[in-house]
Amino acid sequence: MATAAQVCSLDNYLVLPDHTMDDRIAAARQELGRELVILGHHYQRDEVIRFADFRGDSYKLSQEAAQAGGKYIVFCGVHFMAESADILARPGQVTILPDLNAGCSMADMAEITQVEDCWENLVRAGVTNDEGDGVTPITYMNSTAAIKAFCGERGGVVCTSSNAAGAFQWGFAKTPKLLFLPDQHLGRNTGYKLGIPLNEMVVWDPYMLNGGVDPERLKKARVILWKGHCSVHQRFLPEHVDNVRAKYPGIRVIVHPECRWEVCQKADGIGSTEGLLKMIRQAPAGTMFAVGTEIHLVNRMGKEFAAEDKKVITLNDSGCLCTTMFRISPQHLCWVLENLVEGNAVNQIKVRDDVKHWARVALDRMLEIQ
Ligand code: 13P
Ligand code: SF4
Repeated sequence: MATAAQVCSLDNYLVLPDHTMDDRIAAARQELGRELVILGHHYQRDEVIRFADFRGDSYKLSQEAAQAGGKYIVFCGVHFMAESADILARPGQVTILPDLNAGCSMADMAEITQVEDCWENLVRAGVTNDEGDGVTPITYMNSTAAIKAFCGERGGVVCTSSNAAGAFQWGFAKTPKLLFLPDQHLGRNTGYKLGIPLNEMVVWDPYMLNGGVDPERLKKARVILWKGHCSVHQRFLPEHVDNVRAKYPGIRVIVHPECRWEVCQKADGIGSTEGLLKMIRQAPAGTMFAVGTEIHLVNRMGKEFAAEDKKVITLNDSGCLCTTMFRISPQHLCWVLENLVEGNAVNQIKVRDDVKHWARVALDRMLEIQ
C-alpha cells in the first residue's frame, strides 16, 4: 500500500506504468470492501473496466447508482454520468469521478442559459407556456444537471439512448410538441422511428436569432431538435456502410443512435452500447458485425466474441475514440481508491441541492420508462 505522502499527489501516480497499478487497485478495493462500488461505462479501456463491479450503458449504470449500497460510488465514465449518480445516490453516499477533466463534448453543446433563452423564445412564439403545456422538454442523459433540473421542473424527463423512444411517447401523451436536447441525431433517429417525417422536425441553433427557425415551421414542427452532436459518432458516414458491405458480403452493420440519420437508415440494427452487445450476443455463431460506436468497446467486442466464432470490426477504421472517456486511467483509479483508504474523498462530484431536487424528478421519471 502507498504511503500517505504518495496518496496526496496524483503526479506520483501518473509517471508509473499501467501494469504496476493492478495489484494496488485490487488491494485498495479489498480494503474498502462493501463500502465501495465501482461503476464502469462500456467505453472505458480494458485496464480500467476490469475493476468495475458493474459495467453497462448510461441507463443500466443509473439503475446501479440508484441501488448502490456502499458509501463510495467511483464512476469510471464521464462527468454527466457521475453527476447523475450523485443525484440518484442516497444522502451520505459520496460519488467520485477519477479524472475531473473527463467531460463530454456533446453535453458541452448545451448550456443552461442557452436552453433558458430557447424556452423563452418558445413561450413568446406561443407554442408553450412556461410550465410546459405545449412542449415537453426532454434531455438526453448527456447534459448537465442544471438542464436535467430545467426539464424536470417543466414536466419533462431525462432519457438515454436505450429508452429515448419510450420517453418520446411519454412526452407526446402530454403535449403535441417536444424539445429534445442536446443530440440532434438521437432526437431525429428516435422521432423518425416513431413515424414523424423529417420535415416535422426542426433544428434549433442556439447561436442564431430565434434558433434560426422560421416561425411557421416552428408552429408546424412536432420535434424541436437542439443543434448538438457527438463528435465521435458523427465520424461514421454512409459510405462506411457501403464500403464494409462491399468488402464483406453478408456482414451485419449495427450502430449507436448518436450516428447520423443517413447512417442509421442504412444499418441493420441500432442500439445503445448495451443494446449493441445484446444484438451480437443473440446472433448465431459465424456472424460478422461492423459496429459504429467507440473503439474501445468495439475492440473488446472483437476479443470477447471471437470465442463464440463471431467476428466484430469497426465501421470506420480511422479510429473513433472518445478522448474524454479515455482520460480515466488506471493511475487515476488507483489514486482515488488509495485516497479513500486513507479517508480522503478526492474528486467528489457534488450537485447543488437546489439543482438536485428537479434533476432527481426528471431522472426518476426516466427510470420509470423502459
Ligand atoms: P450509452 O447510454 O448507449 O452507453 O451511451 C452513452 C454515450 O455517451 C454514448 O456516446
Ligand atoms: Fe460524449 Fe460522444 Fe464521448 Fe459519448 S462518445 S461521452 S456522447 S463525446
